Amino acid sequence: MAGKGMNLTLKIWRQSDANSPGKMVDYKVTDISEHMSFLEMMDVLNEQLVSKGEDPVAFDHDCREGICGMCSMYINGEAHGPDRGVTTCQLHMRMFNDGDTIYIEPWRAAAFPVIKDLVVDRTAFDRIMNAGGFVSVNTSGNTQDANALPIPKADADEAFDAATCIGCGACVATCKNASAMLFVSAKVSQLALLPQGKVEAKERVLNMVDQMDKEGFGNCTVTGACEVECPKGISLTNIARMNQEFLKASITADK
Ligand code: SF4
Ligand code: FES
Repeated sequence: MAGKGMNLTLKIWRQSDANSPGKMVDYKVTDISEHMSFLEMMDVLNEQLVSKGEDPVAFDHDCREGICGMCSMYINGEAHGPDRGVTTCQLHMRMFNDGDTIYIEPWRAAAFPVIKDLVVDRTAFDRIMNAGGFVSVNTSGNTQDANALPIPKADADEAFDAATCIGCGACVATCKNASAMLFVSAKVSQLALLPQGKVEAKERVLNMVDQMDKEGFGNCTVTGACEVECPKGISLTNIARMNQEFLKASITADK
């Protein structure tokens, strides 16, 4: 456990607001434990900056346990850094070596403008969800109990896998086209697989895809980088399912 920590050089994107130009700035941190998370290492840097009267580096975070999807960062050219199946808050400093230089940048996509430093505006995802990522429930009092609807185990498992998407945006940041197809397809699939989601299935897929296009995300060319970098292992098969749902909805008049 004990031992000398790592000394690191950090090259971090600093940008005061969306309208100002940004630049990479060098920082040093010393005696970083391999047991720290990446965000704890960033906390050490910010404590240093604050104690010197400098502006701390702005970055998003909330749960720090891989659930909220806030901790969006590009680390050494990879969304959420060099590990697989983890978010930045779950990334451990043991993935790095003493003397390393680490490049830390915000997500880069036209639909995710930088707010400050490493913080980007991901409300485009919220607007896509508002366009159809929900089910309308009849609350009249005679609603059928959801538990009374039989769902095949395989469908329930697939819906659950799709539902693990945390909306972090790593798929967009990783994609050379800044496509949001993996995110949107996870949200469409999650509901398309369940009886509760079938009622509004047609409007859902059409409206969500329409909003995705309006937000300025690029097209999917199935390079698969999103699937590799997604911290939740969301599968490309969701994109195929969404394309099917979209086609069905586009060619049928009423259902
Ligand atoms: S599909 Fe994966 S990478 Fe994209 S928003 Fe969801 S969890 Fe993040
Ligand atoms: S801070 Fe919530 S997923 Fe990383």
